[in-house]
Amino acid sequence: MIEIREATAGDRDAIWDIFREVVTARDTYAFDPGMSRHDALGYWFQADTRTYVAESRGRILGTYILRPNQSGGGSHVANAAFMVAPDARGQGIGRAMAEHCLSEARLLGFRAMQFNFVVSTNDSAVRLWQKLGFKIVGTLPGAFHHPEKGYVDVYVMFRSRL
Ligand SMILES: CC(C)(COP(=O)(O)OP(=O)(O)OC[C@H]1O[C@@H](n2cnc3c(N)ncnc32)[C@H](O)[C@@H]1OP(=O)(O)O)[C@@H](O)C(=O)NCCC(=O)NCCS
Repeated sequence: MIEIREATAGDRDAIWDIFREVVTARDTYAFDPGMSRHDALGYWFQADTRTYVAESRGRILGTYILRPNQSGGGSHVANAAFMVAPDARGQGIGRAMAEHCLSEARLLGFRAMQFNFVVSTNDSAVRLWQKLGFKIVGTLPGAFHHPEKGYVDVYVMFRSRL
């Protein structure tokens, strides 16, 4: 049983544990792998950002953020980012968070959602977003340096209606 809810200050340690593992792997996000806890949590809890966690039996297994992709005339398009603890992947947590995120975005009045930087070799993410109705609307050639695969493409993915 997974509960998805807004994050509280008490979730910060668990979020940092997941964030650190995702970022040090260097294969999915273009964050500095040496990013500090302070900077990581500052990024994940920005003023314009809603932060959520997925919890099961008292353990935080995943986290996501939802925010406007741009300000002003671009603020009706949402942006989101997701992280699942490595040992909890492949159990439906990413999908459950993504569906929750789309529903929250709808409630908040967003009209569309954009992912700005989906690494093309990140099969589970690309396939999950496609299954949820996101289209690859652009390819940034060689825009990500993967630790094993070298320079790989990055996709911009967009879902027009929520
Ligand atoms: C991407 C990520 C969020 C997916 O979360 P997850 O909990 O492992 O995903 P789920 O178990 O919900 O699986 C989602 C779907 O992807 C598919 N999938 C899972 N792992 C897969 C893999 N290795 N290859 C292909 N498809 C895969 C599943 O079949 C599932 O489809 P279904 O819901 O139709 O059965 C997670 O792997 C993660 O945190 N990765 C590191 C950070 C990251 O890449 N974030 C996204 C950046 S764009």
